Amino acid sequence: MRVSLEQAVAVLKSGGVVAIPTETVYGLAADATNDSALKKIFAIKQRPADHPLIVHIGDMRQVADWVTIFPDTAVKLAKAFWPGPLTLVLPAQLHVSRVVRGDEPTVALRVPNHPVALALLQQGGLSVAAPSANLFTQLSPTTAAHVEAGLGDAIPVLDGGACQVGIESTIVSVSANGQWQLLRPGMISQEAIAAVANADHQVSSVGEEVEQAVPKVPGQHALHYSPRTPLLLFKNRLALIQESEALQAAGLSCAAMLIGEGEMPTCQSISLPHSPEKVAELLYSSLHQLDALKVDRLLVELPPASPAWLAVLDRLSRAGYR
Ligand code: TXA
Ligand code: MG
Repeated sequence: MRVSLEQAVAVLKSGGVVAIPTETVYGLAADATNDSALKKIFAIKQRPADHPLIVHIGDMRQVADWVTIFPDTAVKLAKAFWPGPLTLVLPAQLHVSRVVRGDEPTVALRVPNHPVALALLQQGGLSVAAPSANLFTQLSPTTAAHVEAGLGDAIPVLDGGACQVGIESTIVSVSANGQWQLLRPGMISQEAIAAVANADHQVSSVGEEVEQAVPKVPGQHALHYSPRTPLLLFKNRLALIQESEALQAAGLSCAAMLIGEGEMPTCQSISLPHSPEKVAELLYSSLHQLDALKVDRLLVELPPASPAWLAVLDRLSRAGYR
């Protein structure tokens, strides 16, 4: 059910949930100060209660309402990247709902860079907790139609068009002493974070593990961000084409997501340009599209294991097996 900005604000203020657009993915939003509203998010998503939520605020000045300390490093990051696809995990004030924190002593905050989300937060005078607006472990939505297809038509959706960044925000935790850690890669790269936050204060990094970002052993990682169709990952085009031929010979149907030019398999395929930004923007919508074909297997070509592709590799590695 599509709703207007005014209706969305009214629903949120009365303790309901609304799917809202952000520049990364659509979020399933509820008033971050209302526990019964927050619990609806977990129920709708079928999400475990110990997974904390990101609080979306309309302005950097509101950070003071949520944290015990806003370390210098975090202030610099916020100034450099907000509004934008960066989430900061900071020491939480005691009043911050345990439902939001998932019982952690910290709270995750971000100012989204989307005109509709910012209007909702600023005009509505709201702070909303919002995980991605999909069922737990399923593909994240980047359009209003994806939200409706995943959660059903009863969920109110504020349509803000297709998300431009396309994958979830980079998450960085900053402790009181200014040390920082990358918790989830995103389109703001670790290099960009380190340039602002000072690499010397980094605790540990997933960036040194680009290769490990793609799991080596099938089934040894939690499947997340997954389409319904079994998905296989390939390091090169030739191997993918050979697998598509083998599947077809065995009477199984398949469809492929390819990155860049080159030889094409005979099955249906989507070719994305060889650009991390473009692939991120179109990643989930391409997977939604391929999933809807209801073939037996999806075959996905992996990008190179280099830092610029880390976030895309991370999402793909959680979506399927190699
Ligand atoms: O781009 C995004 O971040 C999107 C849009 C809607 O803003 N939101 C999103 O939310 O991806 P979600 O719930 O799918 O992912 C939130 C992540 C979780 O993996 C959680 O572990 C982490 O944020 N997180 C939240 N609060 C945290 C905390 N206090 N400490 C550590 N991690 C936290
Ligand atoms: Mg999610």
